[in-house]
Amino acid sequence: MVFSFKRLAAPFYIGEDSPLHATWDSSCRKDTKNGKDKWWAACFDSLQNQDAPYRIVQKGGRSATFYLKDCISGMKENVSEKSVDVVVTSPPYNIGIGYGSYNDALPREKYLAWMEEVGVVIKQALSDDGSFFLNVGNKPKDQWIAWDVASVMKKHFILQNVIHWIKSIAISKADVGNYPNIAGDIAVGHFKPIVSDRFLNDCQEYIFHFTKTGDAHLDKLAVGVPYQDKTNIGRWKAAKADRRDRGNTWFIPYETIQSKSERPHPATFPVKLPEMCIKLHGDAKMVVDPFTGIGSTAVAAVGLGIPFVGFEIDKEYLDTAIARL
Ligand SMILES: C[S@@+](CC[C@H](N)C(=O)[O-])C[C@H]1O[C@@H](n2cnc3c(N)ncnc32)[C@H](O)[C@@H]1O
Repeated sequence: MVFSFKRLAAPFYIGEDSPLHATWDSSCRKDTKNGKDKWWAACFDSLQNQDAPYRIVQKGGRSATFYLKDCISGMKENVSEKSVDVVVTSPPYNIGIGYGSYNDALPREKYLAWMEEVGVVIKQALSDDGSFFLNVGNKPKDQWIAWDVASVMKKHFILQNVIHWIKSIAISKADVGNYPNIAGDIAVGHFKPIVSDRFLNDCQEYIFHFTKTGDAHLDKLAVGVPYQDKTNIGRWKAAKADRRDRGNTWFIPYETIQSKSERPHPATFPVKLPEMCIKLHGDAKMVVDPFTGIGSTAVAAVGLGIPFVGFEIDKEYLDTAIARL
């Protein structure tokens, strides 16, 4: 059973899998005997507590904890120092996207100052050999956004890798030569046309991989690819299996959807993106996404059997994230 408190500024739900459910049962229900007002007051006070999660979902013995809360105060108040192995996130890009609760059109200086604050709290939460994967893209008339955001992180992190998230690509048969698997010209992936004779369609975004020291060890083969030329397996000393480093161009198309209701958020990344980041980092005991959206990182972490903590200010997005698990 799920209880809903509409009296709260943000309605609060307690599922049976939430630790708060026990509080409800043992204190709130007991207080009912002493009168309805006292009962309400006790519940109201305990649930107004901003430190309490909006919802904790248990899946396969792992928990995904969601906070309906600003990520800066949330990271400070709810995430212990150096307790997080991997952060995979995509903040608003400040390009006027129509989010439900957030105004995505701040003056550039203010936006970048905010991004820096986010970087600082992420650094506090990250373990010394942790990985912070920051996905940012540009818009046609402003090709510096991603690099401006990366630059503010420069004060606090080392940029260990730059990964190019390729959403769409065209490959001509003539350019690849004699590849048996490529029979002709191909153009694959998600292609969002723009009407312009000045700008190319934007088929990629960045995933900046920040670490504290620049020498975090990665599990590259966990996201590796098979060798095209199998003779490499014997020839290269490091090649013990049919798997090589994928490199920093990751082709990850969006999942095909039939209607907008299947992806009720204007700026998500595919689940495969955080999944690959988490696998690349290697052994992870805790994954965090400060800008949870509809929970793509949560789905990836829980799918890999890793506990997750996420923050989001929009209740509808958070409800969708919870429903996706
Ligand atoms: C680019 S989207 C993230 C989408 C997510 N990666 C996904 O795949 O669903 C950025 C999200 O940040 C949320 N947001 C904006 N300001 C926030 C804040 N101060 N704290 C937490 N979330 C915030 C927005 O509501 C939006 O859902």
